[in-house]
Amino acid sequence: MSAVQGFIQRFRVQIVIGIAAMGIAMQFVRFIVPAFEIHNPAARQTIPWDSAQTLRLWRESCADCHSNQTQWPFYAYIAPFGWPVASDVHEGRDELNIDQDRRVELDEMIEVIREGEMPPGQYIMLHSDADLNKNEKDALIRGLQATYADRAED
Ligand code: HEC
Repeated sequence: MSAVQGFIQRFRVQIVIGIAAMGIAMQFVRFIVPAFEIHNPAARQTIPWDSAQTLRLWRESCADCHSNQTQWPFYAYIAPFGWPVASDVHEGRDELNIDQDRRVELDEMIEVIREGEMPPGQYIMLHSDADLNKNEKDALIRGLQATYADRAED
């Protein structure tokens, strides 16, 4: 028997307890580390959506990362799987948050939709309804233009 096997044999109960304890301890990290926090702060403003369709398309493809109305999936609550989810949402909100920002960069929003840069590829893999077709992209762009006509940054 090698030294490693001997060690495992001798301390297997302690090893199992140690791993379980780490797994449990990980679940508390999101309450302490801001980047992994899961929460939806109250919206600071109401958005005058031009139509229910624009709102639906926005919700399906952008809202999870660019608003305070994230629909957190169940695995977001399970560490460590939830850590990259939360940090993506925070990064997206920092860049653009329609519930907080007074003005939005409309041209940039249109560009990333048109070029297929947003939503990010790994998000689409898990949310197939976020994968907008050409008509839906056009409708979302027109809807955002109508909704943000007066509140876009030049
Ligand atoms: C899974 C989360 C997620 C989703 C869904 C998402 N974004 Fe993003 N978005 C990000 C992150 C993270 C960044 C910042 C890093 C980057 O630019 O890749 C970002 C950056 C942006 C930027 C700034 C662009 C830039 O190049 O700096 C715009 C504009 C934007 N997103 C618009 C959208 C729109 C419009 C949608 C829906 C069609 C969308 N995003 C969907 C996470 C997301």
